[in-house]
Amino acid sequence: MKIILLGPPGGGKGTQSKLLVSKFNIPQISTGDILRDHVRNKSELGIKANSYMQNGELVPDNLILNMIKFRLKEDDCKSGYILDGFPRTIPQAEGLDNILENLNQKLDKIVVLDVKDKDIIERMSGRRMHIESGRVYHIKFNPPKNEGLDDITNEKLTIRKDDQPETVKKRLMIYHETTKPLIEYYTSKNIVSSINGNKSIEDIHAEIITKIKNV
Ligand code: AP5
Repeated sequence: MKIILLGPPGGGKGTQSKLLVSKFNIPQISTGDILRDHVRNKSELGIKANSYMQNGELVPDNLILNMIKFRLKEDDCKSGYILDGFPRTIPQAEGLDNILENLNQKLDKIVVLDVKDKDIIERMSGRRMHIESGRVYHIKFNPPKNEGLDDITNEKLTIRKDDQPETVKKRLMIYHETTKPLIEYYTSKNIVSSINGNKSIEDIHAEIITKIKNV
């Protein structure tokens, strides 16, 4: 099963991806998580990506496509994957089409999480993250078992630097201008299912399962 979770920043892509990983045992490929790893490790890519990310801007398409090209060739991707936060531009979607053609693969479903901008601002202000694993919490909607600590490692949770309100507004603007047109791009391929992302985490998960069960 090869699916894309598409939606605004803070729309719940990471949260839903983690639930799908547990259910289907296929990897979550989050370009945001991979980039944050590179930034932490101060790799060449991380150094190039850092300022874009901190400013809430998109990292250039060529860097992202190169990263994805190698990731999709890894063994754990053979029986499927969840793309989280990629593609984000039309050139990235076209680049993905080429990569998939070379791998003789095709996408099964694009799940769009539809969340209103005003709800995104509230979600981002309460998000807490375990950066190393990508596990995501919310102080109100999805709190950790122990306040401020990751459920698995008990390590301290942090606030992402790009979750400041002004940066979130910029990320939302970029989403509407640059990423939302992908819905139309994939609609023409007849593989899009939209979901109301303002429901509870559990309800959204159940709805995603319904949408993808026959792929
Ligand atoms: P990335 O890490 O991908 O950020 P994003 O797409 O902006 O999405 P987020 O991770 O912020 O949110 P999410 O949708 O995963 O929501 P979450 O589940 O955490 O990218 C970061 C940066 O990297 C980009 O700005 C860019 O610079 C760069 N980048 C990455 N990919 C790129 C690409 N392809 N091209 C170019 N640049 C790229 O949920 C958010 C909060 O809400 C959490 O606290 C969660 O607990 C809570 N929550 C989730 N679901 C619900 C619900 N149903 N009800 C209430 N609360 C909920």
